[in-house]
Amino acid sequence: MKKIIIINGPNLNLLGNREDDIYGKESLDKIKADCEKKCHEKKIELTFFQSNNEGEIIDRIHDVNDNYDGLIINPAAFTHSSIAILDSLRAINKPKIEIHLSNIYAREEYRKKSITSEGVDGLICGFGGNSYLLGIEAISKLIYK
Ligand code: DQA
Repeated sequence: MKKIIIINGPNLNLLGNREDDIYGKESLDKIKADCEKKCHEKKIELTFFQSNNEGEIIDRIHDVNDNYDGLIINPAAFTHSSIAILDSLRAINKPKIEIHLSNIYAREEYRKKSITSEGVDGLICGFGGNSYLLGIEAISKLIYK
């Protein structure tokens, strides 16, 4: 059984109640339940984590090399600002995928640059909660290859 962690950044705990025209009406708990179902089908053990705190996110990224086969991250607003998260991603030698609910390239100028994606294998964005499931599809091909 392979193990992955999905890490969620700041304000994603508010999904469903937050700018639902952009992020959809699904709560993070609903997305988590869908991810658990998908991982079960793919024979992947899932840890699902959310934090509003940059340091806690970095600590969980540091856990990946020793404890997981892959990482999926939605760094939320840290995507556009955090060199610290980029550096921690670069230190991970397991498959890593960045995801976003919204298409960050079709939004405000300040969202069009993803600093953190320079530290991952690939990026999926713009499919709402489905971006998470597409991320699991993609990472399962990388970890079971
Ligand atoms: C987001 C996009 C970010 O720009 C934003 O700050 C978020 C959510 C997304 O999933 O679309 O909080 O990461």
